[in-house]
Amino acid sequence: MEPVLRRATHDDLPAVGTADARAFGLNYTDQALEDFRPLFEPERFVLATDPAIKAVVGVAGSFSLEVTLPGGASVPTQGLTWVSVATTHRRQGVLRWMLTDMHQGFVEEGLALSLLMASEGGIYGRFGYGQASRARSVTIDRRLARVRPDARGRGGVRFVDSDEARALAPDVHRRWVATTPGALHRDDRWWDFLLLDREADREGGSALFFLLHTDGYVAYRIQHSDNSCRVEDFFAVTDEAHAALWHTLLGLDLVHTVTSVACSLDDPLPFLLEDPRQVRTTGVVDGLWARILDVGAALSARPYATDIDVVLDVADPLPGLGGRYRLRGGPEGASCERVTTEPDVRVDIASLSTLLFGAHRARTLARAGLVVAEPSVVNRVDLAFAGEREARHGTDF
Ligand SMILES: CC(C)(COP(=O)(O)OP(=O)(O)OC[C@H]1O[C@@H](n2cnc3c(N)ncnc32)[C@H](O)[C@@H]1OP(=O)(O)O)[C@@H](O)C(=O)NCCC(=O)NCCS
Repeated sequence: MEPVLRRATHDDLPAVGTADARAFGLNYTDQALEDFRPLFEPERFVLATDPAIKAVVGVAGSFSLEVTLPGGASVPTQGLTWVSVATTHRRQGVLRWMLTDMHQGFVEEGLALSLLMASEGGIYGRFGYGQASRARSVTIDRRLARVRPDARGRGGVRFVDSDEARALAPDVHRRWVATTPGALHRDDRWWDFLLLDREADREGGSALFFLLHTDGYVAYRIQHSDNSCRVEDFFAVTDEAHAALWHTLLGLDLVHTVTSVACSLDDPLPFLLEDPRQVRTTGVVDGLWARILDVGAALSARPYATDIDVVLDVADPLPGLGGRYRLRGGPEGASCERVTTEPDVRVDIASLSTLLFGAHRARTLARAGLVVAEPSVVNRVDLAFAGEREARHGTDF
C-alpha cells in the first residue's frame, strides 16, 4: 500500500487524537484535545491516508523546539511526536513514508538536527537517531536519608501557588536550560499546558505543590496511597539551590519515600547525604534521541573539551547528507567542513548524534564497532566530545 500523504489542518485534531488513542490505548476527551490545541501546529503534522478506505492510517507530527548543546549554544529544532500507524496497516512502510517526508521538510528548513522520544528503542536507529540523553529514576527512603550537616545550601526556599510558579519558574528554567546540554526550552504554551495539572494526569496523587528558590524550582505531588512524594519538575541553576531544594523535599515529614524520574546520572544528590546509598537508582532510560541533519552546522555549534582535528567519514541513509567532514575544534569553538581527504574515523549518523550531546563516550561506541578508528584517534575523539555535564532534556514531549 502506498499511502497518500498530506499536512494536517486545524480540523484534523480529532482524527489525530483518535489515531494516537488507538495506538497507545489512551482515551482523549474533547477537553483534553482542546487543552492540547495551542501546541498543535497542523502544518507540522503529516497524515497518511489509505486511498482504498479513505481513512487516516498514520500520523507523525513535530513540535518546534530549541535545545541546548554542550557549551551552551541553543539550536532550533523539531521534536517528532504523536507518531503512530494503525495496527491494521503496520509494517507496510507507512512510518518510513511519513518520516521521509518530514525529514525532507526539516532539511529544506535548514535545521541542523531533529529530536524525538522513543516508545521503543529498536525503531529509530535506522532513521539516523541516536540516544542523546538519559534519565535516571531514584527512590529515597526519606526517613533514613539525612543530609550531611556540613552540606551547603540550606534555606532560601519558599512555597508558591501555581500562579506565582507560572510567573517566576520560567526564568529559573531558562537559566537552567542555558547551562544544561540536551535541555529543551519551554515557551509560554508549554508552561500553560504543563501547569494545567489536570486531574486525569495525577494518577491518584494530589494537585501539584511548588517550591521556589532564587535559582531553583520544584513541582511535586503527594501520593497518599503509599505516603510518597513524586517530584515532577526539578531545575536548579546553582549547586546551592540544588542542595536547598533537596533539603526541603527530604524534610517532608509524614512522607515515607521521595521519588524522581528525571535525575541526571551525574546528579550530586547521593553525596549530599550521610549515606549515599539511600538514593536508590530504580531505572536508567534513554530520554532524548537526536538526528543530525547538517553535520557541518551541528558539529561546529559546540566547543570541544580538548583540541581536535579529525576527518570523519559519516554514513547517512538520507541522500546527500553523509560524506567526509573535517572537524577542527577546541574549548573556544569549532569549524566543520566537507573535505575529500582520507578519513581518520568512520561513524554512522546515529552514533555521531549521540556523540554530539556527549550522551555516551566514543570509547564505548568504538567497543561496539560504531566508531571505527585507530585506538589513539578514538581516545582523542573520546576526550574531545565528552560533555562538562550529563545531558538532561527536562521536558517530555
Ligand atoms: C512504530 C510504528 C509507528 C511503526 O510503523 P510502521 O508503519 O509499521 O513502520 P514501517 O513499516 O514504516 O517500518 C519501517 C522500518 O521500521 C521497522 N520497525 C517498525 N516498527 C518497529 C518496531 N516497533 N520495532 C523495531 N522495528 C520496527 C520496520 O521493520 C521497518 O524496518 P526496515 O525498513 O529497516 O526493514 C507502529 O508500529 C506504531 O504505531 N506503534 C505503536 C505506537 C508507537 O510506538 N509509536 C512510536 C512513538 S515514538
